[in-house]
This record gives sequence, C-alpha cells and structure tokens, in this order.
Amino acid sequence: MKDKKNKYLVTSALPYANGHLHIGHIAGAYLPADIYVRYRKLKNDDIIFICGSDEHGTAIEMSAIKEGVTPKEIIDNYHFSNKKAFEDLGINFDIYSRTSNPIHHDTSQEIFLNLFKKGILIQKKEKQLYSEREKRFLADRYVEGTCPKCGYEEARGDQCEKCGTNLSPLELINPRSKITGDTPVIKESTHYYFPLGKYQTELESWINTRQHWKPNVINYCNGWFKSGLQDRAITRDLDWGVKVPLQGNEGKVIYVWFEAPIGYISATKELFINRKEPEKWKEYWCNPEVKLIHFIGKDNIVFHAIVFPAILKANGDFILPENIPANEFLNLEGGKQSKSKGHGVLVKDIVKEFNPDVIRYTLASNLPENRDTDFYWKDIQTKNNNELAAILGNFINRTVVFAKSKFNNNIPNRYEEYKSDTDIFDYLSLQKNVISKHYDNFRFKDAINETMNCVRAANKYFNDNEPWKEIKNNIHRAETIINNCLQICYSVSILISPFLPFTSEKILKILNAGKKDFYWENTGKIILEADKSLGKNEILFPQINNNEIMQEDLNTTTEQQSESELIDLEYFKKIKLKVAKIIECEKIPNSKKLVKLKIEIGKKTKQLVAGISEYYKPEELLGKLIIVVDNLKKTKLMGIESEGMLLAAKKNGKLTLLTVQKEIESGSEIS
Ligand code: 2FM
Ligand code: ZN
Repeated sequence: MKDKKNKYLVTSALPYANGHLHIGHIAGAYLPADIYVRYRKLKNDDIIFICGSDEHGTAIEMSAIKEGVTPKEIIDNYHFSNKKAFEDLGINFDIYSRTSNPIHHDTSQEIFLNLFKKGILIQKKEKQLYSEREKRFLADRYVEGTCPKCGYEEARGDQCEKCGTNLSPLELINPRSKITGDTPVIKESTHYYFPLGKYQTELESWINTRQHWKPNVINYCNGWFKSGLQDRAITRDLDWGVKVPLQGNEGKVIYVWFEAPIGYISATKELFINRKEPEKWKEYWCNPEVKLIHFIGKDNIVFHAIVFPAILKANGDFILPENIPANEFLNLEGGKQSKSKGHGVLVKDIVKEFNPDVIRYTLASNLPENRDTDFYWKDIQTKNNNELAAILGNFINRTVVFAKSKFNNNIPNRYEEYKSDTDIFDYLSLQKNVISKHYDNFRFKDAINETMNCVRAANKYFNDNEPWKEIKNNIHRAETIINNCLQICYSVSILISPFLPFTSEKILKILNAGKKDFYWENTGKIILEADKSLGKNEILFPQINNNEIMQEDLNTTTEQQSESELIDLEYFKKIKLKVAKIIECEKIPNSKKLVKLKIEIGKKTKQLVAGISEYYKPEELLGKLIIVVDNLKKTKLMGIESEGMLLAAKKNGKLTLLTVQKEIESGSEIS
C-alpha cells in the first residue's frame, strides 16, 4: 500500500435531533459527502468524516414541551433513530457524535471564553418578552401574536408566515406565550454579541480567493456582504443548551448556531479519544495542509461560509473550509420536504422497503447540485430496472454465469490479447481519470453517469466479442474474453463503490476476491488470478414491480392538508364502507407483504388482497370483523384479483387493522 496522500476533514451538517431524517436531507448533505469520502478512501487519501446530532436550540426544547417529555428524551430517541437510518443507508461516518456530550460543552465554552478573554465579544442590554407564569424569557418561537404589517393573528415571533415579514417578538401586537397563552411582559436582559460586521472585509477577501466554489454559495455570500454583516447575539435566555461559562449569566445558554458547528471540532476530538490518540485532532483542525470540506444544504450557507469561519478566525489556530459544496433542495413529487411540516419520505421507512443501494443510486443520480430537483417514487423502479439491473446487474451476471457454466466455476486463463481487449482496459483507465475530475469538483451526477458508461462499454465488449460463439471454435479466445470480463467486473466494483457500496461488496464476494488491491488506481488493471474459483452468484437487482412502488405503502407523511386534498360530502358518500368477516386467509407465495383473504359481507363473499402479512399471521385474522370499501373497482395485485380494500391505520411503521365489536354483523353499512 502506498503512503497516504492528501489530508481531508469532511463534515456533514449536524441534523437536529428532534425529527426523523428524510431523503431530502440525505440528498443535500449526507449522500454526496459519503460518496466523496468513499472515493477519497479508494484514492488512499487520509480522510476523516465527521457528523453527529445537533441537540440544542429552542426547537428541541419546544418539541419537548409539546410532547410533555424532557429534551433529553427527545434527543435520545431521534439521535439513535437517525444514527441507525444513516447506517442502514451506508452513510459511513467515522464518528456520529452528539452536541449534548460533555466534550462538546467543554469545547464550545472554551472557544466562547477565549473570544471573551480576547475582548472580542460585546455585551448589550435588550428588551425581551418575559413570561411571569413560566418564569422565563420567551424565545422568538415561543411567542405568537398579530402581525403589525398584515394583521395575521398567528404570526410567529421571528416571522409572519402569511406575509413573510421578518419580525422581532416586540413588534407583535397582542403577543402571547405559545405554551401557556399568557400575555408576557417586557423585561431587560443582557446578551453577548459576536461582532460579525468587523470581519466583513477579511471574509470578503477570503471568499474572493474561493472562486472554485459553487456559484450558488458565492452568490449567497455576496448577498450577505451587500446588505452588510451585523453583530450577532450568541447567547439566549434558555435552560436547554451549553451554559454561558461566565458568572452572573445563570439561565443563559450559548446560541445553538454558535456552538453547533463547533460540534465538528468536538466530534473530531471524541473520535481520536476513542482511537486512543487524544491529541491527534489537532493534526486536522490545526494543520493548514488539511482540506476542510463542509457538506450542507443551502439553508445552512450563511453559518458555514460566513459566521463559523469568522468565529474560527477570531479564535485563531483553526483552519478555514477549503470548500462548501452546498446543495439545493430535493422536493418530493413537486412539494417541499420538511421535517417540521411532516411532509417527506423518511429514511427509516424507505430503507425497510428497498435495497439501500437502489435508494442511493436514485438519489445520487438526481442530486440537487445546481438547482432544486424532484424525487418521484417511480424513479426507484426505473433506476432499478432500466439501469442498475439492465446495465450493471446484467454485465456481472452474464459474465459470472458464463464462467460458472463453461469454465467449471473458475476464472479461465488469458491468452493472446486482441485490440478490443487493450481498448477496453485503456478506456477504463482513462475513464477513471475523467471520473476523478468530476469527484474532485463535486460533480457527483457526472461521476455516476461516466461510471455507468464504463459498465455500458463492458456490456458492449461482451457483445462484440461474442464469447458464446468463440467457445465453439476457439476456446482460448473464449477464455481470454471471460477472464477479461471478470477483470472488468473487479474494476467495476471499484468504480461503483463510492455510490453503490453494498453492491460493490457483493460483487467482490461473487468474484471471491479480497480487498488487497481494491484501489482507485487499479481500475482497468488485471487483478484477478486465473484458475481461482468464483464465489456464489446472486441477482444484484431483482426487478421492482408496479405494486411494490405503491405510494401509500411508503408512509409519505403528509400531515398538513392542502385545499386540493379536500373532498366534498357527495364524493365521500359514494364510498361504501361495510363490515366484513374474514373467513379464509392465506399468504401469497413470493410476496413479503401480501395475503389473500376471503371475506363475507352479509350474504355475499369476496376476495381481497391486502398488504398486511408483516403484521398479522393468517390464523390471527380468521373470524375478525373488519371494515372494507365494498364498491372499489376490481384490481390485480401480483396477478391475483382483489375486489375491495380493507381499512387499517399505520403509525411509526406499525399497521393495525380497524376492527369492530362482535355485536355488529358483517354486511352492516358504515356511514
Ligand atoms: O439545519 C440543521 O439541521 C442544523 N442542525 C445544521 C447544523 S450544522 C452545524 F453547524 F452543526
Ligand atoms: Zn403579516
């Protein structure tokens, strides 16, 4: 193995631990970062990948109050759930830390104190809303009232959602506490400010040296510079958070956006403490040779490109980001994904339904790199069937099947090389450089597209060289072609591994190959030894059928109703709901979810196909009185006719049938 080359420190935005991750987050800040890190590891670069939960802030305290639990209960729940969601998707951080860890509190307080001691922080007295009953100051989001601009009565303390005006809680007419409804009083409170304005010139000239950044990031920063940077309050009157480490500041915490990015530093410290090299974090954070790269969504640009660099500069000792490849948003079938509005495809749900590499591929080939993009459920099916299965799965399978059946499951020998052989290997070697350029420039979609072109070329090589014909006339030629195809499979497993890591591992197993030579530079080289036997073959991407992509299956949480979703009473009355009794029940072979039911509705019987077999055993269903839609048009699921639909409730991935009490007879109408 060669020496490690370049040093990188890669971070992904720390997600708030008060909601589940959705695929929009993944496409924004996590999948591109993971692809990048995996690529750099293949290049033998020295790289660490840092992330963790952002566990402070009013939003978390607010969720806790709303749900009647402690903030700690909220963050524990979401931290572990999100950590698992990342793991299930193969997002492979070196550490997934938490800002509630003591090391983070210490590190943030240290930096805060350092700025204070250097005389950088400013103290200002300000008027704020205070709730006598709750005995505390009310943060912006805890207050609502009437908008002074448009008269909307439920405007928030920071912004009126109706007319979009930015507000301060003191501007609201008839302000009230969101928690108790009480009218707050005005009270003075002293806060620390970071003089961001003083750093404007320095920041501007630094960003001028960053012309290789994405234009969206640079434009965004220029917009901020144009309006002029202002002092920013970095403390809040709150209980939940990192305490202000100065006497006389009881009841105050450091503002979450001041300390959260410091979480990248504390997580790095924690990583190396775990690795028993507690001082090594400095070799990254305090080493100008290291390239620091922040992967974020566009809503986080100002904090990463302006505020955090200013804090790092003010503190001294730390490196500044080399790049911030911020992404735009991934929308869901035309609507925005948002944790707080309950509209989105949650990672924890989608990973239960599909191969994580198929999800990764679908998202990665549609990343919002330069503009917002849309996720459509249908894309999962199209990408799987038409690209992953038809191009990649096909090449691996046809090669391995050939070797197994014609060469006794062994890697055949190579004999004389033809021009077509050298051509394909030359092409792969060149392509790896083309793809590298794309990765180096954070153009992931182009990198993936070019990688798939390699696999297309591999299929063409197989077709053009016709091993099925050669085996009849020139066995040595057929052996050479299949040996080459197996070598290409190895190259392909290297090339795809940044975005399809699980599949790459599977290919190595099928080839019975180890990881000794698994480096980017070995793409297009002859690596596998002849005469060795192959491993067990497997279909990498089974077809995805229409019924597996039914949207309602996948828990697209849309809790807020838009006008267009409402139906009128006449329409509702057309739906005939009846009580039915389950009289027969059997699992449908080859289906994870479906069962076939015979139901009795009064005097008639009907057949129903329902996706409930993960939640009920057939014998549990017999005799149950359920509710069905009786006048649904017939449909077929996996080729089996279904004459209605049963009603069930789904929450947190668990499905429960709606049943009725025994005294209600089957056939009864529900109105
Ligand atoms: O927008 C968010 O989800 C924030 N929790 C991101 C924080 S990134 C970093 F600063 F920690
Ligand atoms: Zn308004």
